[in-house]
Amino acid sequence: MLDTKVAELLNVQVNREFYSAYLYLDFSNYYTEQGLDGFANWYRIQAQEERDHAMLFMQYMQNNGCKVTLEAIDKPDKEFASAADPLHAGYEHEQYVTSLIHNIYDAAGQAKDFRTMQFLDWFVKEQGEEETNAEGLIKKYDLFGTDPRALYMLDNELAARVYSAPSLVL
Ligand code: FEO
Repeated sequence: MLDTKVAELLNVQVNREFYSAYLYLDFSNYYTEQGLDGFANWYRIQAQEERDHAMLFMQYMQNNGCKVTLEAIDKPDKEFASAADPLHAGYEHEQYVTSLIHNIYDAAGQAKDFRTMQFLDWFVKEQGEEETNAEGLIKKYDLFGTDPRALYMLDNELAARVYSAPSLVL
């Protein structure tokens, strides 16, 4: 069994990861409405990754004899005035998720729960990549977003993203 506080935080993280999937699906739907199918694809795949993260947290809890409680998932409520807005919202969201992961890591450290710390190592690295990707999208949009032809090419680049399952296997 895991430390009670660590188990609670892991259960909250299940919800946060499913919320992330929901949020990114909302971004994807927004871009579909804007005719930017590549951006829509990028966030649809991002949503799949977030669902994977939720499933990994659930499985880790179950592997350690913890009960998982599925709570209601908040409605995504962001309003977008331009195609740049979801990119900024996504970057901010990833920074928030990183802080959540670090918080669980901290609690696991205090509880000397080395198993959970080792499990979380993958997520610490993953968050670094997710923040880099999210920031990279903002930079590209800042460079190319106002030129329709360049935006078309960027959209095509993002359309090429394909889903791959997470490298962490429990
Ligand atoms: Fe599961 Fe994008 O953090």
